[in-house]
Amino acid sequence: MTAVGIDAIEIWTGKLKLDLAETFAPEKGEDPEKYTKGLGLHASSFPDAHEDIVTMGANAAKRLMDRKGLTPDDIGRIDVATESAFDNSKPVSTYIAGCLEQVYDGDFHHANKGERKFACIAGTQSLDDAYNWIKAGRNRGRSALVVATDTALYARGDPGEATQGAGAVAMLISEDPSLVELSTDQGYGSADETDFLKPNQQFPSVDGKRSMQVYLARMREALEDYESVAGASHPDDFAYIPFHTPFPGMVRKAGLLGYRHMIRNTTVEEELAEEIGLQPREEDYEDREAYEEAIRDHMDDLKSTAEYREWYGEVIEPTLSIARQVGNWYTGSVHIARASALKSAAEAGLDLADKRLLVGSYGSGAQAEIHAETVQDGWKDEIEQLNVDDQIDSRYDLSFEEYENVHDRHNHDKTIEMEDFTVPEEEFVFTGRGRMNERLYDYVA
Ligand code: HMG
Repeated sequence: MTAVGIDAIEIWTGKLKLDLAETFAPEKGEDPEKYTKGLGLHASSFPDAHEDIVTMGANAAKRLMDRKGLTPDDIGRIDVATESAFDNSKPVSTYIAGCLEQVYDGDFHHANKGERKFACIAGTQSLDDAYNWIKAGRNRGRSALVVATDTALYARGDPGEATQGAGAVAMLISEDPSLVELSTDQGYGSADETDFLKPNQQFPSVDGKRSMQVYLARMREALEDYESVAGASHPDDFAYIPFHTPFPGMVRKAGLLGYRHMIRNTTVEEELAEEIGLQPREEDYEDREAYEEAIRDHMDDLKSTAEYREWYGEVIEPTLSIARQVGNWYTGSVHIARASALKSAAEAGLDLADKRLLVGSYGSGAQAEIHAETVQDGWKDEIEQLNVDDQIDSRYDLSFEEYENVHDRHNHDKTIEMEDFTVPEEEFVFTGRGRMNERLYDYVA
């Protein structure tokens, strides 16, 4: 059976940076460690005046196409995942294709284009669509381009303001992929929830604390559903577990929950029992409340054990390095977590070929999805092509007042003139609006 999966990945971060400890915390009268230690975030990326979800997506896609030597004829579908679309009819994928057609010979007239929303779930569903399309033999030898692009803004003063971010991830889905092979081992946890939503409004209505509980509940359901297909999972089964990362502190909670679930009834649980006792079993408690309190106490003990800390340091921590510097990218978030993990393995000189990843996507509203992937032989050469560290380091560092202007500039209800902070070079830029209020783009050589 031919392997199908992610052949290449490129990342484009918004070119501006808000430093949370140095710039944001003092204005909010908060201890910087609330952000750096509590949420686990150091900075957020923002788009410059000439950037938006289309330019970031098109710039990531162009880097990918140039690097792989692709022309439009090689691409049979373009799927965009976003929660920040500015057009309720014309999909962002058509804008991105229009940008790319400015710089390549040929066109995407015979490529199937679409758009999905649902945070990370949307990016992952787009990967699935591409996988199914290729597996069904409907691709005519062509690859699929999946672009996850978002400008994740919250209303100013909302607790979510600390978790903003902006950037795009472009992925090429092909036969015989270089990076990871996708699989049919997959599970879902899904329910009608109103924890975070944007009913025809740009900034989310969000119940932050509840959204965290919903994330964990759906993730647990998805893991159970995954195991019903793939069999019981064990913490040692996976080299890395990249999660949707709204902020690393969320993943800290998800990682602990996942570990507790996976070690239940294993020798790891038995060995740890000498130190912290066995996990509480619901049947031993009078009511649910008493059981949950016992579980909370047990998890506090579990997270301080050497075994757990070592596992977390190896399997989860490396997935968080990019997110710590850029914030939440909604649809792109799990894909930068995967990239962080692979990048860190390459930097550490690890041999990952044939090792497995367990990938946990999530979108508010709400759904979690968990699936397994297998790292391919070409992973190292591929991941070493990323220049994300250079991009992160060269962002313009905003003052708080500049940040407020940038936030207003990207507020759809405001018309704010703002000079660029960075000089565009070899990239797509937003140039204004056309006769039908469409957004217009040029390529700056
Ligand atoms: P908050 O209320 O300002 O923060 O908002 P907090 O007081 O809960 O503090 C945060 C953490 O920092 C806590 O850690 C504190 O203890 C700690 P925890 O106890 O939870 O482990 N802390 C400190 N640590 C060290 N030193 C200190 C210190 N002070 C406090 N001095 C909240 C936090 C997440 C609620 C807010 O940022 C928010 O509303 N964010 C937006 C919603 C969100 O991200 N939800 C996540 C799950 S939903 C999701 O992932 C989907 C999403 O991507 C949407 C989508 O695309 O679909 C969001």
